[in-house]
Formats: sequence, C-alpha cells, structure tokens
Amino acid sequence: MKLLALSGSARTASTNTAMLDSFCRLAPPDIDLVLYHGLADLPIFSPDREGENAPAMVNEFICAVHQADGIIVASPEYVRGIPGGLKNAIDWLVSGDEIIAKPIVLAHASHRGSDMLASLRLVLGTVSHRFNAELFVQFPLMSQTPQDVRRTLETKGNTSMIVAFLKEFSTYIVQSDTD
Ligand SMILES: Cc1cc2nc3c(=O)[nH]c(=O)nc-3n(C[C@H](O)[C@H](O)[C@H](O)COP(=O)(O)O)c2cc1C
Repeated sequence: MKLLALSGSARTASTNTAMLDSFCRLAPPDIDLVLYHGLADLPIFSPDREGENAPAMVNEFICAVHQADGIIVASPEYVRGIPGGLKNAIDWLVSGDEIIAKPIVLAHASHRGSDMLASLRLVLGTVSHRFNAELFVQFPLMSQTPQDVRRTLETKGNTSMIVAFLKEFSTYIVQSDTD
C-alpha cells in the first residue's frame, strides 16, 4: 500500500508537516507513506500550462499522485481558508484522471482551523468521489516545535491512534476499490 502525504504548510517548522512526518515513521510495515516535499515550489496553476506544456515539477507531482493508492492531507488555516500553495497544487490535478477516484483523508495539527477544514472538505469532495470525510484525526499541536510534535505523537496513546487511523484508511482504500 503506497500512500502520499501532502502538507499545506511551507513553513520549515510546520506542525502539520511534523505531524505527517511522524505518521510516516509510525506507519505499519505494509503501509509505505511518503511525504511530498515539492508543494511550495509548484508554479502558479494556469490551464494554458497543462498537458504538453506542463512544467516538469508539475508532471512529477501528478505522477506521485497517480502512483499513490491514497493521499493524506494536513494543512493550516490561512485567513479562514485553504493556504494558496495547497489550493494551487489541487488545481493542477483537477482536469486529469489521477485525482477523480483517489482515496483521500484529512488530518489536522491544530484545535483551530474549522473554516479551512470545511472549505478543504468541499474541495476534496469535489475533486475525488473517494474523499472520506468521516475518517479524520486531529491533534492540538499548534505552536509546538517539530521536536515537540514528534515527542507528543510518538507516545503510546497517540501512536496507537495514528496506527489505527492509517490501518482504517488502508482498509477503506481496499473496500472502496470498485475497479
Ligand atoms: C498568514 C496567516 C494566516 C492565518 N490565519 C489563520 C486563521 O484565519 N485562523 C486560524 O485559526 N489560524 C490562522 N493562522 C494560524 C495558523 O493556522 C496556525 O498557526 C497553524 O497551526 C500553522 O500551521 P503550521 O505549523 O503547519 O504552519 C494563520 C497563520 C498565518 C501565518
């Protein structure tokens, strides 16, 4: 099972990225979860630059999405919405085939951000009919350093919650596959 993790934060010390990094470290052996690092470097989306005209970075991103059996997204809220970099990345996927049946779930590294979460649920439910809004995990990690995020998540109780989340997502991917 190959999973891709996307963080909506370009911040070096991002709690969302650190949380996803812990997910990668805690994933059971049969789940290969990889964090995508190129989101902040993707060019601004334009329909004029799709297909044959797509920049190499965009093709690499689309390929990473294509090769993943499922995607986990985690993002901060910026000005009550989805950060531009994450929305830009999603926009690059919309007219292709890679996203439409891709299983997607959300995780969240803050006790705040409900407007962004509502908006992201709407967007992800629009681009993929296998977005699973019920499967969701949230930790109050706002303002923690990446080291503290790791310490908090890699304790027994939180670790078992994360492993259970990843296993449930893996089961959902298999069970919702109608191909
Ligand atoms: C430009 C900017 C706008 C923000 N807007 C909001 C907001 O509207 N609502 C909110 O709850 N937090 C807002 N925040 C706080 C971030 O969502 C919060 O610090 C988040 O945990 C950062 O995630 P990260 O550690 O992954 O970068 C904003 C932060 C920045 C830098």
